[in-house]
Amino acid sequence: MTASPERALHGLVDGLLRATEDAAVAAAAWRGRGDEKAADQAAVDAMRERLRQLPMAGTVVIGEGERDAAPMLYVGEAVGDGTGPDVDIAVDPLEGTTICATDSPGALAVLAAGGRGDLLRAPDVYMEKLAVGPGCPDDLLRLDRPPADNLGRIADAKGCRIDDLTVCILRRERHDTLIRAVRASGARLRLIGDGDVAAVIQVADHASPVDVYMGTGGAPEGVLAAAALACTGGAMQARLVFRDEDERARASRAGIRDLERVYDRQDLASGNTLLIATGVTDGPLVEGPVRAGTGVTCDSLVFAADGRRERRRSTVPLSR
Ligand code: FBP
Repeated sequence: MTASPERALHGLVDGLLRATEDAAVAAAAWRGRGDEKAADQAAVDAMRERLRQLPMAGTVVIGEGERDAAPMLYVGEAVGDGTGPDVDIAVDPLEGTTICATDSPGALAVLAAGGRGDLLRAPDVYMEKLAVGPGCPDDLLRLDRPPADNLGRIADAKGCRIDDLTVCILRRERHDTLIRAVRASGARLRLIGDGDVAAVIQVADHASPVDVYMGTGGAPEGVLAAAALACTGGAMQARLVFRDEDERARASRAGIRDLERVYDRQDLASGNTLLIATGVTDGPLVEGPVRAGTGVTCDSLVFAADGRRERRRSTVPLSR
């Protein structure tokens, strides 16, 4: 008898966790050294090596780019030893390369896993995102509505006032109008320098004070964020943003036909998905790796398809 997709994924959690831990430890060696590329490469190499060994027939659907531009963990790359379940994997071995290079709060090693077709193969372009955590109806959000309108509906659904809500937005010039609109609505604004996967994970986390994420960031990061919401519950709408013809062509190559499409959370990551994030630097969700004797203690969050959210701390040998 073959295991259900949920059980098959569940059986891989410990191995996948080792992959984010290995990436986090490798990237953490580059904390504060001002070299984004070296930190990213170290994380990619470590995650790839671990994924290679896992008992699965994995395919990277969100990775470091296309094969020519990224020699490792490229979209379409087969990972795992070929035995075990068919799994689609979305990876961001170092989410927050600048955060890591400047040893600032909130860099993560992240991956999501699902069955075949559970995660959107998003091209490496920008994505406009609007996300809210559990407890709001799936059809609450509309990307095309003015921000104050969406915030009013979210406040109604949560039984609070708009000025009780905290909205997280990436601090970018492209968000000036959005920021003004959110401020005018009365909501509290948390501006972040980088790291919108962590921002949406905070939205998904009932213990966090962040209620809503708005704005444009990477599309691959959008799929990882949706995977967190798929596990915890929560709604999201998103749309790809193209700056030129080359980016449109990239989307077509990824199989996207309708370039204007508004995606719901379920289109980005379906229910049978898990997400694992390990801290690279200390942050609001998890802490970065800490040396402990001959090993390193890693701090991770595991979000499972059945809604379970687990904080895992493990000490891994340095020579693992
Ligand atoms: P990197 O780890 O690739 O540097 O991404 C960090 C990040 O802040 C993402 O979280 C976000 O989606 C994206 O960059 C935003 O892109 P940009 O910095 O170009 O505005």
